[in-house]
Amino acid sequence: MDLADVFSLYKEEMSRVETHLDRYITSDVRLIPDVAHHLIDSGGKRFRPLLHLICARLCGYDGPHRFPLAASIEFIHTASLLHDDVIDEALIRRGKTSANHVWGNAASVLVGDFLYSKAFSLLAGIGDIRIVQLMSKMTNVMSEGEVFQLMKCGDTRLTEEEYLSIVEKKTAVLISSACECGAVLAEAPAAQARALGQYGCNIGMAFQITDDTLDYMAREEDFGKSIGKDLEEGKMTLPLIYTLAHCSPDRRERIKKAIEKKELAPEVLQNIFEEIRKAGGIDYSLKRAAQFITQARNGLDVFPASPEKEHLTAVAAYILSRKI
Ligand code: IPE
Ligand code: IPE
Ligand code: MG
Ligand code: MG
Repeated sequence: MDLADVFSLYKEEMSRVETHLDRYITSDVRLIPDVAHHLIDSGGKRFRPLLHLICARLCGYDGPHRFPLAASIEFIHTASLLHDDVIDEALIRRGKTSANHVWGNAASVLVGDFLYSKAFSLLAGIGDIRIVQLMSKMTNVMSEGEVFQLMKCGDTRLTEEEYLSIVEKKTAVLISSACECGAVLAEAPAAQARALGQYGCNIGMAFQITDDTLDYMAREEDFGKSIGKDLEEGKMTLPLIYTLAHCSPDRRERIKKAIEKKELAPEVLQNIFEEIRKAGGIDYSLKRAAQFITQARNGLDVFPASPEKEHLTAVAAYILSRKI
């Protein structure tokens, strides 16, 4: 079973999620639906809302609150992309000109804020304080992760541990909450809610590590965003961190100096790419991502066999194999 098979089993629910997304980005202020539609209609993978639906079903919930919840998860994700593309000065997103490049930074930041606040009004509407607590704490951690990453940009001393902490905060916690909220809606036992949160966190870690590795090895046409951007910006990610820790001292000094002095002309970047490949930075990162996926799978042991459990296993496998 691959990701497309899983999506086809949730087709009806996913189409209701789409209806909710559409409905809640209407506004008399034209710029809001213009910017929001540009991004939301441009083919995001939607695997976060999908995970929420799977987890809710796994724990026995099939009520209406899944839809505003799934929509709010995708809104928070979309807002973080709008903001991220401003910070990263991105030119393309999902294979299209990024919103910051079409409408400018101010519009992207403000529409991102609109989506964040819309997400929270949808969450409040569900009327369950536990959901509001979980999601508000989570977005707070996401923001912390982004600020921490900003502080560490260009810092070639960043350790693997610090990197993993950034990844957990900026990416894994949202995926974790998407899963855990399914259990909360179902009033599932605390151990199950925790297990799903842990599963989401582990696949979220693997997801971002894979993303950071694809930034060094994907094809732009497949990935839908520019390649090599992280290094160009001085963003220290796992392939590079591993390489700095394992290459020869003179190579290490050369790479560090280039990043610290921002001397990153195309041929320098090309050289560093080569070093990373030779030092095994790509292989190591993919291996690390695979370890998180194994942990994610093992953590599902608390659930008896069921179709939904298989769906979660299939999503976990997809995270490792993805090219986009
Ligand atoms: C991109 O997430 C941001 C990261 C956390 C790496 P996705 O790759 O899920 O983005 P879309 O929604 O499918 O475009
Ligand atoms: C993920 O970081 C950003 C968010 C969690 C919003 P990246 O900067 O790697 O994301 P992409 O590569 O631009 O999608
Ligand atoms: Mg980015
Ligand atoms: Mg990236």
